[in-house]
Amino acid sequence: MRIFFAADIDPPEAQAWREALQSAAPGHEWLTPSRPDVAEPQPVQADVAVVANPPAGALSQVQGLRLIQSLWAGVDRLLSDRTVPQGLPLARMVDPSMTAAMVQSALWAVTALHRGFFLYAQQQRAGLWHQLPQQRAADVRVLVLGLGTMGAAVAAALAAQGYGVSAWRRGTADATAPQTAEAEGPAGVAVLRGTEGLEQGLAAADVVLNLLPLTPHTRGIVNAGFLSQVKTGAALVNFGRGGHLVEADLLAALDAGRLSHAVLDVFATEPLPPEHPFWRHPRVTVLPHVAALTDLRSAAEVVADNLARLQAGRPLLHLVDRQRGY
Ligand code: GLV
Repeated sequence: MRIFFAADIDPPEAQAWREALQSAAPGHEWLTPSRPDVAEPQPVQADVAVVANPPAGALSQVQGLRLIQSLWAGVDRLLSDRTVPQGLPLARMVDPSMTAAMVQSALWAVTALHRGFFLYAQQQRAGLWHQLPQQRAADVRVLVLGLGTMGAAVAAALAAQGYGVSAWRRGTADATAPQTAEAEGPAGVAVLRGTEGLEQGLAAADVVLNLLPLTPHTRGIVNAGFLSQVKTGAALVNFGRGGHLVEADLLAALDAGRLSHAVLDVFATEPLPPEHPFWRHPRVTVLPHVAALTDLRSAAEVVADNLARLQAGRPLLHLVDRQRGY
């Protein structure tokens, strides 16, 4: 097959991806986009586009596509690109190594918030020796927003550490769907749904950890109204998308003492602009969108599997429901 590869990443990283993909899925012809300085790129024919968060319009020169395979888990940027053909199957990345990385980041953030490690880091900078009371994990309630692959894995790992875990999914229960344990969520995790479920979860949580997909329904969900429902002194972890959060509302909630700390991996503008107040805010921890990166080796296998499925006419994996937005 002819495969078009478009990635919004540095050339050496793109080269590493090309090599990993070619070795996992040999025998295909790999094509790259025209250089950005070409005013009118020639149309190219390709069966599949393999893309890593490509800029809008990156696929407009490609004709004959039968599948778009994302190397990123979140496909919000692709879905908002009006030049991406609508009827085309779009597969997101579900990479076990990436999920494992997200679990590590979530355990780190929740543990650091629970045990006061961000405060101790501040104390070190101030040369201050001061012991804080030690709380039990069971006395810390974590609300995970989103119960997809990552949300479920994170909720399960936190519950296994002894935290009191609830997980919220936006949709209400489908009465016709079988209520299996899996549909309900991982062991030891209370599943909350709908607006009422969110209210209930926010009022009880010491840590709110966002792992929702970014869709028109979830854009701006963490706003002043949401933050006013959070328990005073709770902390926020945003490992979803910058678009979930109204940044000015978060700053106001931090400065009013409503929220104690925010751990942020994703931002409205990335890279986070140098003058942004988050960089120097004493109660904000900034990560450069690294909570979970796609793992080159395992992701190349996931792509190879879907390419083989397409070629053999077998069902494709991890297809996005465009109506739902993830
Ligand atoms: C990272 O944020 C991804 O969506 O893969």
